[in-house]
Amino acid sequence: MKIIVTDEVSAEGLALLTQEPRIQLDVKLGLSKQQLLDIIGNYDAIITRSGTNVDRDLLDAGKNLKIVARAGVGIDNVDVDYASSKGVIVVNAPFGNTNSAAEHTMALLLSFCRNVTIANASLKSGEWKRAPFTGQELKAKVAGVIGLGKVGGRVATRLKAFECEVLACDPYISVKRAHDLGVKLVSHDEIYKNCDIITVHTPLNDETRNMIGPREFGLMKTGVVILNVARGGIINEQALLENLLSGKVTGGAVDVWSEEPPKSEHVKQLIACDRLVVTPHLGANTFEAQVNVAIDVSREIINYLDDKPMENA
Ligand code: MLT
Repeated sequence: MKIIVTDEVSAEGLALLTQEPRIQLDVKLGLSKQQLLDIIGNYDAIITRSGTNVDRDLLDAGKNLKIVARAGVGIDNVDVDYASSKGVIVVNAPFGNTNSAAEHTMALLLSFCRNVTIANASLKSGEWKRAPFTGQELKAKVAGVIGLGKVGGRVATRLKAFECEVLACDPYISVKRAHDLGVKLVSHDEIYKNCDIITVHTPLNDETRNMIGPREFGLMKTGVVILNVARGGIINEQALLENLLSGKVTGGAVDVWSEEPPKSEHVKQLIACDRLVVTPHLGANTFEAQVNVAIDVSREIINYLDDKPMENA
């Protein structure tokens, strides 16, 4: 089996494949769309992260493709329906990086609340200022978690450890799960109306694209803190920018963008906003998570070769 790896995936995690005599593994990073289209026909499987768009063009050019393996949770960069219609199996790694994403959410939230990034830049530039970097505590804040799945659930637990009151909404989650996590399930609008902090942890799909836009910002409290460590496009970026500029949103953090890397002027303006802590899609970027997800997709490919059931296809 010939496998191409097109995004940065942990070499340690891929060892199962590199040691497997039935497999030839080619790591080819930084290919243009055309370069990948030119060579994909030579491969039986592709391993990606979020940097490669597995669209119709790629699936059509991949005449021998049998597996698209996504070393991560989100499959929004894969045309799953078209792949399935062509008999190509799409497999992901839904568990290995969820802790990493939850910890990154907390890192960004705390960085924002305590002005870590801007105070760090100020001190390194030779200044000694304290008053402008007075922060706010998480204790006693009402935090809203939208999407109480594997990442959202972990974020909720961590927010509770910081003594927040946690509200959550998720139409696919049982009241029992919310109860077990010690959070109150409410409607989306109740989250917008009542929370001091709002963090999204849903996949990006037709139901969630632009889920938080002008109407939702209109319902929010003045001074709300907004976080997106899930997917760019769940929160409408133009609406977020406008609400940051008006002061309705006091600030927050964004790790994921509707375009990666960002190109549009309004996204660049968002990134430049002082009151927004920003990172370049690092939620899943811990050594631990990258090894985990690479092992998970490698196991699935070996299962395929051994004619065994694939767990996350
Ligand atoms: C995920 O969907 O699991 C992550 O966004 C993966 C990645 O960092 O590419």
